[in-house]
Amino acid sequence: MALHVLVNKHCTILHLCAETGRDPLVQFAESAVANNLPPMDILFGKTAAMQAVRNKIERVAETDVPVLIQGESGTGKELCVQLLHALSLRARGALVKVSCPAIPHSLLETELFGYEKGAFTGAMNTKLGRVEQAHNGTLFLDEVGSLDLNVQSKLLQVLQDGTFTRVGGHESRSITTRLVTAANGDLRTQVEAGTFRLDFLFRINAVTINLPPLRERIADLPVLIDYFIDHYSKIFNHTPELLSKSAVRLMQNYHWPGNIRQLENLVRSYVLIGSEEALVSELMPEEKNGGITTEIDLSAPVSLKNITRQATHDLERQIILKVLQANSWNRQKTAKWLQISYRSLLYKLSEAGMPEVPPRPIRVTSMRKPGESVGAPLSAPVPRTRLY
Ligand SMILES: Nc1ncnc2c1ncn2[C@@H]1O[C@H](COP(=O)(O)OP(=O)(O)OP(=O)(O)O)[C@@H](O)[C@H]1O
Ligand SMILES: [Mg+2]
Repeated sequence: MALHVLVNKHCTILHLCAETGRDPLVQFAESAVANNLPPMDILFGKTAAMQAVRNKIERVAETDVPVLIQGESGTGKELCVQLLHALSLRARGALVKVSCPAIPHSLLETELFGYEKGAFTGAMNTKLGRVEQAHNGTLFLDEVGSLDLNVQSKLLQVLQDGTFTRVGGHESRSITTRLVTAANGDLRTQVEAGTFRLDFLFRINAVTINLPPLRERIADLPVLIDYFIDHYSKIFNHTPELLSKSAVRLMQNYHWPGNIRQLENLVRSYVLIGSEEALVSELMPEEKNGGITTEIDLSAPVSLKNITRQATHDLERQIILKVLQANSWNRQKTAKWLQISYRSLLYKLSEAGMPEVPPRPIRVTSMRKPGESVGAPLSAPVPRTRLY
């Protein structure tokens, strides 16, 4: 029965856990399948940093303590908010999200706190704000750093005693909600710059969860690749070939500025188009000024030795890639062309995390069997068991 319990029925899950003595997160993991959230082992992986995140979520979910989630773009902040809400005792209430930068400053106060009929020209009816909509649920303020100071002080009041007034109203209203905020910048820097209230920061970060960037949890990459391939294979009803080891190594050496979102987009394209070559070229450094750049950060002393070593590596990498492509990824020919030994080429390829074998050809055509009509369904995904 627990397998079919949905996230918004988390109270039922807790009840079942009390009966069965099972870990609520494990039980939730089963129900998450039904709710389309990634399973817990995918969500948290196995790195110490993510295990610490899991422990924190587990400890604070059932409390009403405000939580601030920090992390670069695409690290999974929103997924964590969904989990926090689903595991909270307010899971039956609404999870109300406010994307702060998306709402013009002039409208933010009415959007958050609502307004009374006649508050301003055009206010024909009373309107509930997001804060009131989140009564008995969770209020999620995404990119909280973009809230202006006036709104921050009004929210501070809500955090202090749960009261606020609608725009144009005189009556103080009372609500009970759990506040979760997310930020991808450093709010302390904003406090120093005078654009963020220190007392508001103290209130919202009773518990702070720091999500590591993907490059700092690279051990989780194979499991994530596997998960996204399976996920999109089901959606597109097509399973691509396994990625080559060299492509996976290249992905492991990549710095992932867009984090898991970037990985997900890349794997989705791979499943859809089937071109490992396209995937590999996405991860290769862009050529700048023919491979050499003289743009350096002069705010601190620079090491000429380190800069030139890095530039030489980048240049080597680009040249090797070009010659490999020109020789249809034949490594023997490439080594000859570059006038280096075959062993030396292999070493350089592995050091730079570049593919050693030719990327596979585009497989889109193989998605449809010969003779199959255009409207025929694509073949069902082949079950895959191997992790990268
Ligand atoms: N641990 C994870 N396992 C599986 N998918 C993940 C994980 N973390 C993030 N994702 C996926 O990556 C994408 C980005 O995640 P999410 O929107 O939660 O990131 P974010 O930190 O809120 O990004 P932003 O700061 O840009 O809003 C989503 O499609 C999400 O499903
Ligand atoms: Mg987000």
